[in-house]
Amino acid sequence: MSISKPSNTEQLKWWETAVIYQIYPRSFQDSNDDGIGDLPGITSRLEYIANLGVDAIWISPFFKSPQKDFGYDVSDYRDINPEYGTLDDFDRLLARTHELDMKLMLDIVPAHCSDQHAWFIESRQSRDNDKADWFHWVDPKPDGSPPTNWLSFFGGSAWTWEPFRQQYYLHNFLESQPNLNHANPDVQEAYRDVARFWFDRGVDGFRLDAVHTINADTAPYRNNEANREFKFGELPREQQPFFMQLHDSAQLNQPAIQSFSESFRSVADQYDDRYLMGELHGDDPIKASETFTSPGRLHATYNFNLLEWDGLDVDGIKKAITNAISAFNGTGRLSFAFSNHDVPRSATRMLAPLGLKEDQQQALQLLLLKLESCLIGSTCIYQGEELALQDVRDIPIELMQDPWGIEFAPTFLGRDTCRTPMAWRGKASNGDFSKANKTWLPVSEQHLSRAALDEAAKPDSIYNAFAAFLSWRKKQSALMHANSMTEITGGASQIVFDRISESQTLRCSFDFESLAATFEEV
Ligand code: BGC
Repeated sequence: MSISKPSNTEQLKWWETAVIYQIYPRSFQDSNDDGIGDLPGITSRLEYIANLGVDAIWISPFFKSPQKDFGYDVSDYRDINPEYGTLDDFDRLLARTHELDMKLMLDIVPAHCSDQHAWFIESRQSRDNDKADWFHWVDPKPDGSPPTNWLSFFGGSAWTWEPFRQQYYLHNFLESQPNLNHANPDVQEAYRDVARFWFDRGVDGFRLDAVHTINADTAPYRNNEANREFKFGELPREQQPFFMQLHDSAQLNQPAIQSFSESFRSVADQYDDRYLMGELHGDDPIKASETFTSPGRLHATYNFNLLEWDGLDVDGIKKAITNAISAFNGTGRLSFAFSNHDVPRSATRMLAPLGLKEDQQQALQLLLLKLESCLIGSTCIYQGEELALQDVRDIPIELMQDPWGIEFAPTFLGRDTCRTPMAWRGKASNGDFSKANKTWLPVSEQHLSRAALDEAAKPDSIYNAFAAFLSWRKKQSALMHANSMTEITGGASQIVFDRISESQTLRCSFDFESLAATFEEV
């Protein structure tokens, strides 16, 4: 892969180079002592994020929701779940974020809503109400079984029987997360309205949840084919049946979804400089990402290649990056991430076989943070990565919260391990996350020794090393004014590539033996 120097020195859009800090609102900061993080809590901690030098914040969903999937089951897209605050709290949070010169992205869930949403409550009543066609309602097969072999990502069939309608409805996740029927123009208009509602308030963009699981094809619903290359691997064995099937074009990544991405984009284009980043996966994630981000559709894809559940070794990281950039080099249409609210934390997960000691794990985390922010496109870091927080793997089973984890416990720990509350001050009760007697998930003892404000006050902490790095990064033309990189080279424990702009070629080298990153103009 040889690339010529980009001649276009035009300023890139903010999102093409952004470092985006992901907040899991339930676990960031509690302000009203109920043991649950909330919006005023986030506002009170914004300076900590701004001082890191990131460009934007993405907040996981805080809309009205029964919280069966902790916000990814929305019952009202235009309101705030009371435990997180009010719309006024949101406006204050947004204003302060902008004052601190950061963008704010919300997390919208277009594929499904909660079974408590008024749309579904009405739809499930009968076959002839106003919302009768807003979801995927299908008759049983003559033997009474579900219409297709589709499985839910969270276990069991993707179809649930509704006695009122004497029909099955589709849910790719929990049965309380019914999938919308995006073949219905009224459904797409409803989501355009939601987009307008938040853009009018001033939000800068959306992370769109699980876009590949939007269903826009209607009958006949076709069976998924068997995945003949299936091998037992990552994720709990109990969940493997889902991966024994191929999904693209039948259950997932249906071609008709593109009408949704175009319709949602048409709203974003009516505002200045707004950004849509789609969470995209599938049997062929790169193909899905390319299709969804083609002109007039989503701006960028949230790339999963570095999010492998079991972690990756150096060779795996090289392959993951090479595969992702094969389709996107020269563009800012992708976002890399090593961690999020769905996978074990990167400080524990990546290069796990090396059995790194505590101080080495911190150095590894810093190396990963630098690596991802030197790749093309934007990068998403997850709360606590700047502190090298470890995954919390000792949560007693009776305290588990994640419905996916609970479904497959005790052999599977689920996603609580990366969702425990942030510790802010090591010596304060609950790490100063909350004054409640009990927090929704326990604050990890181990995280108290790496509490955020304590680390921010230490000149030699990872937090400060990363902040210094981000400030240096902003001055590198090769990282900020073009999105091109060369093929990855280097020995077995190295990742080396050049980033190239018209005025600078920067060699970026990451050594996983010495755990050091070096940069050199060439
Ligand atoms: C989100 C998960 C959520 C799922 C269903 C995902 O991809 O990141 O946290 O459980 O979508 O909405």
